[in-house]
Amino acid sequence: MRILSGIQPTGRFHWGNYFGAIRQYIDLQNGQDTAFYFIANLHALTTVREKGRLAQNTLDAALDLLALGLDPNRATLFVQSDVPEVSELCWILMTTTPIGLLERCHAYKDKKTKGLTADAGLFAYPVLMAADILLYDSELVPVGEDQIQHVEVCRDIAGSFNHSFGEVFVLPKAYVVKDRAKVPGLDGGKMSKSYGNAVDVFEEIPLQKKKIMGMTTDSRPMDQPKNPEGDPLFELYSLFASEEQTKSLAATYRRGGFGYGNVKKELVQLAESYFAEARAKRRELAAQPEKIHEILAEGAAKARKKASEVLLRTQQACGLK
Ligand code: ADP
Ligand code: TRP
Repeated sequence: MRILSGIQPTGRFHWGNYFGAIRQYIDLQNGQDTAFYFIANLHALTTVREKGRLAQNTLDAALDLLALGLDPNRATLFVQSDVPEVSELCWILMTTTPIGLLERCHAYKDKKTKGLTADAGLFAYPVLMAADILLYDSELVPVGEDQIQHVEVCRDIAGSFNHSFGEVFVLPKAYVVKDRAKVPGLDGGKMSKSYGNAVDVFEEIPLQKKKIMGMTTDSRPMDQPKNPEGDPLFELYSLFASEEQTKSLAATYRRGGFGYGNVKKELVQLAESYFAEARAKRRELAAQPEKIHEILAEGAAKARKKASEVLLRTQQACGLK
């Protein structure tokens, strides 16, 4: 079964990206031919318009993914634009994609509702994402909750192409882990780099500590019982804690008589030890950029092999070859 996912290099990864997406990549990697992960720099062009920043973000994304446990021996890691076949497939798919389908997609719709003008790139974003998925006959796509719609759109695009030209594409399924589908941010809303409520995986510990200690919490007196469910601090804590620790904290919440300050301190410590190994690995990898470029070049060569097969099949099906 082919597993594939992509992540945009639009900034440093935060806890939401890790638990909602990256951790699933790592858990699911089971072979260079079956697990494909890429850095979606063509998608990032819809928002990052500075060449130095895009290039740096792309390298950082590779370093972060490798440090967090993506293993080039058990998965293929590449940069999206290193496989130019994807842009050609994107155009071909565009010709059979109904406009109405794209008008319903949230990134474009949200921008339009806010009265902002959108570029064609943002409008066609889901078609490029469909090309990413279909180009490798992907079956399973691990993503966070907000990307489920795009995987559904990919199925619709593939279905409509298959309807016109025969069974060319494999229909993929999204893979979402419920407990981690929506990691809360410091303000209780969805953690996102655009909301200023994120804790980055590799940011300095004192900064992480300052952010967490400053989280707003329930203002009721300490002795009152509280409900752990839906409490963002509790939810963040449970991502890092063992099952036992989580159960015990849930009981403490229900009993009341505790201070949020202590929970926050524990969260800082748990997160620090959770990522300690990855931090050390990242420092080690950052000192050898040529090794990272080598891994990405090998990854792109592997990905292109499969991509050219599927592109040829598609070109033949619609009369381009
Ligand atoms: P952001 O919202 O910070 O811009 P992206 O849209 O680039 O993040 O998301 C990259 C990946 O991380 C996607 O698969 C997305 O579903 C996942 N993700 C992002 N934020 C969260 C979150 N708060 N909880 C769970 N998954 C998330
Ligand atoms: N749109 C995804 C995001 O913003 C990134 C992405 C691009 C992707 N192509 C993909 C994810 C293909 C899964 C499969 O997070």
